Amino acid sequence: MSSDPLSEELRERMEWLKHKRFNCLCPKTDLMFAYRALEDLSHRLGRPLANMIEIGSYHGATLYLFSHFVSRGGTIVSVDLGRCMGPKRKGDHSKRTKRMIEYLKGQGYNAKLFLGNSEHLFEKVRDFVKSETIDFLHIDGGHDYYTVKFDFDHYTQLVGTGGLVLLHDVNNPQCTVPGFWGELRRKYGDAAFSSGDNWPGMGAVELGRGSSLL
Ligand SMILES: C[S@@+](CC[C@H](N)C(=O)[O-])C[C@H]1O[C@@H](n2cnc3c(N)ncnc32)[C@H](O)[C@@H]1O
Repeated sequence: MSSDPLSEELRERMEWLKHKRFNCLCPKTDLMFAYRALEDLSHRLGRPLANMIEIGSYHGATLYLFSHFVSRGGTIVSVDLGRCMGPKRKGDHSKRTKRMIEYLKGQGYNAKLFLGNSEHLFEKVRDFVKSETIDFLHIDGGHDYYTVKFDFDHYTQLVGTGGLVLLHDVNNPQCTVPGFWGELRRKYGDAAFSSGDNWPGMGAVELGRGSSLL
């Protein structure tokens, strides 16, 4: 039986998260899609990723999983409200997110958590990354049309041509991300592709490729 090194890497990291009690809200199918897209990005760039920004980290699980593709010493930024208000998850989870940021710092990353609303933090994040061009942006914060559009329109300004944006919940009918995802697919053509029809679904946009009408 041949084992796939990438899925083995993901499995080991998920075990570690479970052991350390960091809850991951992203299912394995979407994570595997993200892992393949990030591996492709790294091949295209011809190097490990220099940095990443994540909007919506919750406990920091996806931040940790995706950090696999970022070289040590690289910049890892998380933007998170620090609390959830939905019916399933309520209350302050910022202690966990901070703990993950400290762990990543200990691993040699230039990791930073911006606690608050992504809409109010854009300038602060831009000042923090300064002249760095971001390789990868993961959008998984507010799941309403307005917020996800704000996050995409603003934070992609920090991502370089050839960089990658992943958006979670592109097939989730319980939120309005699918509507915005439809717009991105029309705008970016082949450069916007997804994990398929699975729920909640991950979408990817390769910036600077395909028939972007921007
Ligand atoms: C679905 S969870 C993220 C899950 C995480 N990526 C994972 O897969 O484990 C969404 C997170 O986004 C944060 N959030 C919601 N709206 C936000 C906003 N406007 N700005 C920043 N963070 C936000 C919430 O506090 C929550 O931690």
